[in-house]
Amino acid sequence: MKVLLTGGAGFIGTHVHDQLLAEGHEVTVLDSFRPDVHGGRPAPRPGLVIGDIRDADAVTKALDGADTVIHLAAKVGLGVNLDDIDDYVSSNSLGTAVLLKCMTSVRNLVFASSMVVYGEGRYDCETHGQVAPGPRRTEDLDRGRFEPPCPHCQAPLKPGLVTEDAVPDPRNAYAAGKLNGEHLAATWARETGGRVTALRFHNVYGPGMPRNTPYAGVAAIFRSALERGETPRVFEDGGQRRDFVHVRDVAAAVTLAASALPQQPPFRAYNVGTGTVTTIGEVATELAAAYGGPQPIVTGQYRLGDVRHITASSDRLKDELGWKPAYDLRTGLEDLLRSAG
Ligand code: UD1
Repeated sequence: MKVLLTGGAGFIGTHVHDQLLAEGHEVTVLDSFRPDVHGGRPAPRPGLVIGDIRDADAVTKALDGADTVIHLAAKVGLGVNLDDIDDYVSSNSLGTAVLLKCMTSVRNLVFASSMVVYGEGRYDCETHGQVAPGPRRTEDLDRGRFEPPCPHCQAPLKPGLVTEDAVPDPRNAYAAGKLNGEHLAATWARETGGRVTALRFHNVYGPGMPRNTPYAGVAAIFRSALERGETPRVFEDGGQRRDFVHVRDVAAAVTLAASALPQQPPFRAYNVGTGTVTTIGEVATELAAAYGGPQPIVTGQYRLGDVRHITASSDRLKDELGWKPAYDLRTGLEDLLRSAG
C-alpha cells in the first residue's frame, strides 16, 4: 500500500508507522506537532510532512501518490472543560472534513474512532432488560453512588459488553467529534464509492503514552505517580470497568484493517479491545505491584465527564478480519513500565 498516515507522530501513530514500514508499505506521515502534545519539538520520522490537517494545501501535498489513508490526527482526551470545545470541533470534525474533501483520488480510509461514541456501555436490568442509563447525577456522585441505576425503576444494573450496533450516545466534545467523523466518512464513502473502516479503540496503553498532560490516560498517570514515589490515586471506588489494549495490538489492527479495505463494504465499524474486562482499581494494583511501589489509594473523587463502565465485544474484528491481540494486561503493563526507562 501507499499510505498517508495522519497523526503519525503521535502515540498510536508512531506504532502504526513502525508496523506499516515493517510490512513493507510506503508511508507519508502528516503531523502538525501540536504544542499541547509534543511540546513543539518535531522528532524526525521518515516520510514526514509537517502540517495541519485543516490546511487543504498541506493535506493535498501529503496525499500525492497515496492509495490508502489512515486518519489518526486528532485532539485526544475528553475535553478538560468547555474552553476546549471549539478546538475539539475544529481539530477533529473540521480536520476530518478537510481531509475527506482533499481525498479526490483515494478510495480507502481507516478512521480512528473511539469507544467513547457509546457513552455509558451496555447495561441490563432484571425487570426492564437492556436499558440505557443517562449521565450520572452530581448529587449521586457526591454521595458515592457511582453505579448508574435503571432509568425506569432505579434498581442496580448489570454491566455488559457493547457491540458495534449499539446506539451511540457521545457524552463529551471528543466523543461527539469522533462520532461526527464517522458520519462524515460514511458520507464521503457514499458520495465517492470509497470504503471506510472505523476502528473504535478501547483504552490504549503502552510505550510512548502521553504523560503529564491533561490528556494522559490513566495508566500513564499511575506510572508517573509511581516514578515520583507517590501513591496512584484511584477515582470513584475503583470499580470502573475498562478494557486496556496494548498499542502494538492496536497498530496491528490498524494495518490489518487498511489491507482489508478493498474487500470491505462502504462503511464498517469495529471495536478494538482485548475482550478482557479490568477495573481501574485492578490496573492500579497490578502496576504498583509490577513497579514495586506504594499501593494505590481509592479517593472517592470523580470527574463529571467520566462514564462508569465501558467495555466492548471485539468479536467482530476477530471473526471478520482475524485480529488477535498478543498482549495480556500483565505482560503489557510490564512492557509499559520497562519503556519508562
Ligand atoms: C480513554 C481515553 C479516550 C479514549 C477512551 C476509549 C484518555 C485520556 N482518554 O477514556 O481518549 O477514547 O479511553 O475508551 O486517554 N482515573 C483514575 N485516576 C486518575 C485518572 C483517571 O482513577 O488519576 C480513572 C477515571 O476516573 C476513569 C478511568 O480512570 O474512570 C479511565 O480514565 P482515562 O484513562 O482518562 O480514560 P477514559 O475516560 O476511559
